[in-house]
Amino acid sequence: MAGAELIGKEELKEIEVLFKTGIFARYSLDKERQGIWKVRDFEKAFTRYFGSKYALGVTSGSAALVIALTALDVGPGDEVICPAFTFMATYEAVLEVGAMPVMADIDDTLNLDPDDIENKITPRTKAIIPVHMCGAPARMDKIMKVAKKHKLLVLEDNAQACGASIKGKYTGTFGQMGIFSFDHYKTITTGEGGMILTDDLNLYHRAEWYHDHGHDHLSTVHRAFDGRTILGINYRMNEIQGGIGIAQLKKLNRVLAAQRKNKAAIEAFLAPIPGLKFRAVPDPAGDSATHLAFNLPTEKKAKAFQKALADGGIGTTIFKENFWHYVPNWEHFLAKSTAQTKSPFTDPRNRKVTYSRKSIPKAEDLLGRTLVMGVNVKMTAAQLKAIKKGIEKAAAVL
Ligand SMILES: Cc1ncc(COP(=O)(O)O)c(C=O)c1O
Repeated sequence: MAGAELIGKEELKEIEVLFKTGIFARYSLDKERQGIWKVRDFEKAFTRYFGSKYALGVTSGSAALVIALTALDVGPGDEVICPAFTFMATYEAVLEVGAMPVMADIDDTLNLDPDDIENKITPRTKAIIPVHMCGAPARMDKIMKVAKKHKLLVLEDNAQACGASIKGKYTGTFGQMGIFSFDHYKTITTGEGGMILTDDLNLYHRAEWYHDHGHDHLSTVHRAFDGRTILGINYRMNEIQGGIGIAQLKKLNRVLAAQRKNKAAIEAFLAPIPGLKFRAVPDPAGDSATHLAFNLPTEKKAKAFQKALADGGIGTTIFKENFWHYVPNWEHFLAKSTAQTKSPFTDPRNRKVTYSRKSIPKAEDLLGRTLVMGVNVKMTAAQLKAIKKGIEKAAAVL
């Protein structure tokens, strides 16, 4: 639950001032806002924290994906390689820009398998979206090498791993663009919201213009006088989200430290269990530790252990059975059931792509015997003790 656990007076203080000016919009109204620019300040703080040149606050992580894909000029006829294990938004965003998502396998990090990317490349492949699931990074060094070799763009879906890193470099800053989500469940939250990071001024401009009807935001008088070169739409973040984001970002280090500490404690309870293996993390020090994932030798054992843990009050997820995060379980996606009758699935410019379980053998194996547990920021010694007891009791079924 992360940042949502820490919502308090700091967030309130950041937004209280907006009720004095009455300006909740991020652009223009220079005189009325009395020098208060919350979204702009949130973006600046974000670039400083992550060491990126440009940041753009937007309405959600999903919107951030759509805007980034648009800025990268991904569209009909293009294919984008995405991991089989991700939240649906990754695939929806690719479809939203008219392109086709191509499903690739995962590796023992539970993220995109660099070794499977080449199997899924076609002459239409334009981009790769590695997704840093459940708080921990994909093998970005290898993924970037494959992308470079095949001249593919990389957009990191970092919705779930804000603050994760590999050897000091933050996830979301490896590819041409990276996106973050600030929905209620994310590492830091603004209720709803998202951020795009890039070091490329041209991509930043394209994203920034597109997310606000093409406005170039250069007018010093009023936005009605802004210039424009491309069409866009409205994905603007508002000042309340910006203010809450500023306060939440200041708490990110505290969130990460607490999660890492609690995760390490639970890991120690699980470590003695014979046959239990923890998820591989490219740089353990950079795990944002929102979740703890481990696998058992067989699906049968994983299910038995899951049930025994649940009996002790410890909830876990087996993502192979999950409704929203595993492509083979998305019956409406597989049925190509879109809101409009014409869609990227029926567009003659696109190839007919298939999504068979046989093409993702590692995901089929690993996700069926992996248990994932959420790690909270606030966990008392008594709660950790109860988890220890629950784990020790459940281990008897193995
Ligand atoms: C991997 C991933 N990508 C994208 C999103 C979309 O973010 P949002 O909920 O802010 O639209 C999510 C949200 O759960 C996610 O988990």
